[in-house]
Amino acid sequence: MNFFDELVIPASANHIMLIKYMLTISLLLFIPYISMLLGATFISTHFRKKGKTEKNSMYLRFAKDVIEKLTITKSAELALGTIPAISVFFAYAQLLYSAKTISVGMLALSVVMFIIAFVFIYKYRNTFKLEGIMNAFKSISPKDALSGENESVQEIKEFEENNISTNSISGTTGKWMLLSAAYIFAGTMALASSPDKWANVGNILQVIFSWQTLFSFGALISLAGIITGGAIMFYFFSWDGGLKDMTEEYAALARNVAGKVALGSGIMFPLMLIISYAYLPMESQSPTVFFYMVTVLILFLIAGNFIYAMFKNSDYNSATTVFILVFVLVLFNVIKDQAAFGNAVHNNTLKINKIADDEVKQVRSKTMESTGINVEDIFKQKCSACHKFDQKLVGPAYDQVVPKYNGDAQKLAEFIFNPQKVDPNFPPMPNQGLKKKEANAMAQWLINQVGKK
Ligand code: HEC
Repeated sequence: MNFFDELVIPASANHIMLIKYMLTISLLLFIPYISMLLGATFISTHFRKKGKTEKNSMYLRFAKDVIEKLTITKSAELALGTIPAISVFFAYAQLLYSAKTISVGMLALSVVMFIIAFVFIYKYRNTFKLEGIMNAFKSISPKDALSGENESVQEIKEFEENNISTNSISGTTGKWMLLSAAYIFAGTMALASSPDKWANVGNILQVIFSWQTLFSFGALISLAGIITGGAIMFYFFSWDGGLKDMTEEYAALARNVAGKVALGSGIMFPLMLIISYAYLPMESQSPTVFFYMVTVLILFLIAGNFIYAMFKNSDYNSATTVFILVFVLVLFNVIKDQAAFGNAVHNNTLKINKIADDEVKQVRSKTMESTGINVEDIFKQKCSACHKFDQKLVGPAYDQVVPKYNGDAQKLAEFIFNPQKVDPNFPPMPNQGLKKKEANAMAQWLINQVGKK
């Protein structure tokens, strides 16, 4: 038994379908979001440092613009980060219910790490805003006043220094925390799709030091590079008419970074994708998964071409196309991973459905025991003269009429308690004078009997 099994109840077949849709949607929001965050923090902290040491204000502006645009807004953290992450966790906890694997526990760990990383990254983003306010403030107050020794000037200086150190600490912490979270996340996803390893991998270190994790992480990181490159192109040159007041030089810098990140990491992508597929056990591979993988590769080639063209010819018209292509690519990649995961947990899913069914049956038989009503006796004495399950006698065959109630025992009990005219081909059913409790138990029993066939 898994510790997290306490958190969820086993799901029925219908629920499992729903959970799978929810999982796909959550990942479709989550993967691009963490990819942009990863790319943005790495690029932004890099250019911030470079800008400070080389005293280059263009680099500093780029550091600010990248983190500001790619983290979207403060509320994106909740909508695209935290909520999808938690949904992914619950979906996995459901689908891996009672499976003997540490995947669910590891996923919980990575979700917590992601959330901490988000906090630091948005703090980092915020310090740029404060810096902007400070600069505006300085430009309106006379220079000599700021060099004076009076108290408020001192306070402002302290505040500024604090802000700068918060900036670099939160930037660095957020960046590495996010990268580690992504590593564990990739490892978890890979392990969850490999049931053959569940029994042997009982320790998080085994996941951390595994080739499979490394390649699955490689695939995630190179995808993150493509997404980041595409997103910079999109936010800087296309969205809302692109960034305002960009100089030629600044636009060239943005294009250069976006192109290099996308193409540089993109080069690894097909290889990582194929190796990760090869690492899947036979039971998780299937023609469908393969087909999705090929689709992803084709989309990758098309998107790569557009990015390359933009990079070479500084023609930004296709920025939106690239963005959409990359998004579709992510979609197919998520669907591919989910198809593999679906294959992996197929047996477990059947098991969960059975547990769910059994639990329902147990509850039902318990209520029958506790009511002390012997339904079968009542059936023999009061119903069997006119009813059989598979044949019509005076009344219709139960197999024909009970399914109509769709499992609604309440409604069926009402009919048994007080029969009304239903079908013109039959005479009305005389009231058999059952007590309310007996009618309830009878209704449930009929539904169970018919359902079993
Ligand atoms: C005297 C014969 C007779 C007896 C005894 C009898 N039924 Fe019926 N039952 C009928 C007839 C006739 C109908 C069809 C009524 C109609 O369609 O209006 C019927 C219909 C039904 C239906 C279908 C209702 C629907 O929505 O179509 C159920 C369920 C049912 N009976 C359950 C029972 C149960 C449970 C008992 C024993 C407690 C019982 N019947 C005893 C004659 C009987």
